[in-house]
Amino acid sequence: MGRTGVWIIGARGGVATTLACGLSAIRQGLAPTTGLITASELCRGVSLVDPAELVLGGHDVRTTPLPDCAREISRANGSLAGETVAEIEPDLARIDANLRPGVLFHSGTAIESLPGVDPDTRETDPGLALARIERDLAEFRATHALERLVVVNLASTEPPRPTHPAHHEAALLEAALTERDGTPFIASTLYSLAAARHGAAYLNFTPSPGALIPAVAELLGRGCPFMGSDGKTGETLVKSALAPMFRYRNLRVLSWQGYNLLGDRDGAVLANDENRQAKIRSKDQFLHEYLGYPLHSKVTIDYVPSLDDWKTAWDFIHFEGFLGVRMNLQFTWQGCDSILAAPLVIDLVRLLDLALRRGERGPLAHLAVFFKSPHGVGEHDLHRQFHSLEEYLSTVRRSIDER
Ligand SMILES: NC(=O)c1ccc[n+]([C@@H]2O[C@H](COP(=O)([O-])OP(=O)(O)OC[C@H]3O[C@@H](n4cnc5c(N)ncnc54)[C@H](O)[C@@H]3O)[C@@H](O)[C@H]2O)c1
Repeated sequence: MGRTGVWIIGARGGVATTLACGLSAIRQGLAPTTGLITASELCRGVSLVDPAELVLGGHDVRTTPLPDCAREISRANGSLAGETVAEIEPDLARIDANLRPGVLFHSGTAIESLPGVDPDTRETDPGLALARIERDLAEFRATHALERLVVVNLASTEPPRPTHPAHHEAALLEAALTERDGTPFIASTLYSLAAARHGAAYLNFTPSPGALIPAVAELLGRGCPFMGSDGKTGETLVKSALAPMFRYRNLRVLSWQGYNLLGDRDGAVLANDENRQAKIRSKDQFLHEYLGYPLHSKVTIDYVPSLDDWKTAWDFIHFEGFLGVRMNLQFTWQGCDSILAAPLVIDLVRLLDLALRRGERGPLAHLAVFFKSPHGVGEHDLHRQFHSLEEYLSTVRRSIDER
């Protein structure tokens, strides 16, 4: 089937480092595939790329070597065992050699002031920045003789960019590349545009609103499969499993309050008002759309440095039953964010690679189950989303049988 490359934007971050460590540990038989949906019964009989065969590369605006990023995670939150990191260090060093300086473009102060950011990654001309990204993608593909490429956005959550007419039309967006002030652009737009031009599949695992603006979705959809946005890994995963229960039983939700506490670099970026708004919108919006009646809801995200990657969420759901009697349900979620996210990214890469091999293009609605804000999909019921993935996989199996 030829080799598949995975180009990660934010390649030295927590999720990306955990992903690199996980793939390497699986390859060396040091870890099981628990947590990977594509390693479950669901995908039996569907030919997916072997995760151990994926070639990793990527961009980051920080320069910390990947083995150091892994050691930092091991020290700070213990999710990566020190002995495992020591055993896979040569693999991490090899991946590190495939990483290139990323692009900061209208990225906002929360990201630009992250410790360790290389000031030379700041770009002012959108056309030149895009050319640099495209050059890196082409070089990666040629060096490793890659047949297919999946570009994955795992960079810090960006603030929204004011809307601009060029956001709505591919031709206008491409024309704006020559306007030197680059008003319509933000780094994530340049990266997704580069993926479209390169014919790569594209995955936006972040809530960054610039990554899948309509003009870029139009360009991607012409030749590549893509999907986003914002991986559904923790509190929102539980919400999208529980909200249907209230609907199925005709129990009326009156209020849904969600308090999220998290540390680490992601939490530090989300401590900034502008960056946090993109995340809150992504976590809160679906309840209203799904339940279809007015309710009081609020999502709060607070930065608690000592928690590091161990995200904690407390949700309080006030609801009304028969004879108007009011009751409540509360849950507490404590998860290690990167450990929840990394296997989903591997699943998504394998399913996007499958779509590339099958010649599929445009947004992949059957992947909605993986996202808080599934692109172009109005269905937010986790169970129905899961069935949609099952149906797609049955179709794939049938098409294999017919051949
Ligand atoms: N459970 C989860 O962890 C989860 C779930 C859904 C979404 N996400 C999103 O995934 C993203 C990554 O999360 P994380 O915990 O790894 O964050 P992180 O801060 O550890 O990593 C982000 C990386 O992106 C880099 N970066 C920032 N701007 C960049 C740019 N313009 N170009 C290239 N690199 C850039 C940073 O230097 C950093 O290394 C975040 O946007 C987060 O909101 C995470």
